[in-house]
Amino acid sequence: MSRVSLNPLGLIPLSITLCILWVGISGASDPEVLKPRVPADQIEDVKTWENPYSATKGNIEKGESIFRGKAFCVTCHGKDGKGLGHIPGLRGKLPRDFTDKSWQAKRTDGELLWILKNGSSGTAMASFIPRVLTEEEAWHVLLFVRSLGK
Ligand code: HEC
Repeated sequence: MSRVSLNPLGLIPLSITLCILWVGISGASDPEVLKPRVPADQIEDVKTWENPYSATKGNIEKGESIFRGKAFCVTCHGKDGKGLGHIPGLRGKLPRDFTDKSWQAKRTDGELLWILKNGSSGTAMASFIPRVLTEEEAWHVLLFVRSLGK
């Protein structure tokens, strides 16, 4: 009889431990947050949209002042962009943590702009372009959102 037994029941607690460890190390949140928001029939095109503005200090600061100011992103996404999961009345999907590197890596700039144009259906995230933001302003806000993941 082999002394090293691979008891399948023993593997379950191990996998749970590894999962917790992984989440701890990577800072990853709920896998639900990583699922694409852009509909499948549009996403390939949307992924090709590129931010025409570069991440200079001035452009990021411009985006930050829009985020904190007229576009009131800060009310739901928080001063630090970590999201306010505890806002009363916000039901269902909550603002994600913009400092989460795994979420940042999963999204292209185009997908983020698409959200600002269309909102995220079934959530508190509304559409901001063109009602609140011009496309140019939105790209600047996204430079700030990206800077939170650095
Ligand atoms: C009323 C609350 C609210 C406001 C105001 C708000 N958001 Fe959101 N936002 C949310 C919620 C809730 C989600 C999560 C939606 C989801 O899970 O699909 C979200 C998601 C997002 C996402 C991520 C979507 C993805 O692909 O994962 C981005 C980017 C974003 N918001 C940017 C902004 C910006 C920029 C502003 C300001 C122009 C803003 N939001 C204003 C509530 C808000």
